[in-house]
Amino acid sequence: EKGGWSSFMAKEVSEEPEAVANTIRGRIHDSAVVIPELDGLDELFAGTERILVIACGTAAYAGQVGKYALEKWARVPVDVELAHEFRYRDPVLSAGTLVVSISQSGETMDTLMAVKYARERGAKTLSICNTQGATIPRESDAVVYTHAGPEVAVASTKAFVAQITALYLLALHIARVRDSISAADQARHVAELEAVPAKIAHILEHEQERTTQLAHWMADTRSVLFLGRHVGFPIALEGALKLKEISYIHAEGFAAGELKHGPIALIEPGQPVFVIVPSPRESSLLHDKVVSNIQEIRARGARVIVIAEAGDAAVLPFADEVLRIPLAGPMFEALLAVVPLHIFAMGLATARGLDVDQPRNLAKSVTVE
Ligand code: F6R
Repeated sequence: EKGGWSSFMAKEVSEEPEAVANTIRGRIHDSAVVIPELDGLDELFAGTERILVIACGTAAYAGQVGKYALEKWARVPVDVELAHEFRYRDPVLSAGTLVVSISQSGETMDTLMAVKYARERGAKTLSICNTQGATIPRESDAVVYTHAGPEVAVASTKAFVAQITALYLLALHIARVRDSISAADQARHVAELEAVPAKIAHILEHEQERTTQLAHWMADTRSVLFLGRHVGFPIALEGALKLKEISYIHAEGFAAGELKHGPIALIEPGQPVFVIVPSPRESSLLHDKVVSNIQEIRARGARVIVIAEAGDAAVLPFADEVLRIPLAGPMFEALLAVVPLHIFAMGLATARGLDVDQPRNLAKSVTVE
């Protein structure tokens, strides 16, 4: 039940720290990721030549974030594909392909049909799912459950952060089996992951009010753009989806590097743009490129709302608003930067008098193709 919360969505966003912590629990041994459910699959992971992630909507964005970690740590090539596109194009599936499906409900028909299709053609299937005993995990060779708890609001929030967490765990598990990262790096990433719940809690405590206030000021805005790079790119897509889904405002996410290839033409005075800025500590190159993107859109009159790590002063001269996230490793920024975007979407829908839990035309679980 909602408890004291104004909506299930508000309750579920507040549960994002626990969703991450509960998904990690029981899966770390001696500073390395060991997922008990995947016991016995070492040979499969050692022989995996390619990972194909299939999902829909928000779950597919989690998959896009996961691709960065799976490739970086496990050194396996990864493709992420929308489940409803996958089945209808005669895809190439070799015996070395591992199909990873992601679904909160475990009942999404498009995803289920894609899993069955892949399985019939000889691929091994692993499901990341939030619902115990649902159809997709039952139809898969292996399952890694996210432990976000039941998600009631139609818009997915805590399940999304749990999905990314599960993908990072999977990447580190496979990396350990394949010996593709050192024990020291494994331990460092485990520590970074374990630090995420407290960092999300910090954002909820320190940035929620300001982000909600910002959303209220923007109640009449007609379009919002989101820019990000690296893992910030799929997070920008997620920020845009959540906004259109519950506030019915036009929203679009872009890879920041794409700006000059077209989208910058959209920028006119007053256009609100969220920019997720990568940490300057790990890659000053990426950071500086995004900062120069900010300068470019600011020069054309954009109203720039920056999400940047604490202490990053380079963004200050060009930002109208700065929302701060705690310092984290480059992969883990995804789990932090999304939190203000969830709060913002919820704040804007609320400011427009909408029911954030039950957006029009949408169902929680899409059981038709
Ligand atoms: C967006 C949202 C949807 C779902 C999508 C897949 O907030 O909730 O985009 O992510 O319909 O649903 P599941 O994860 O249940 O397969």
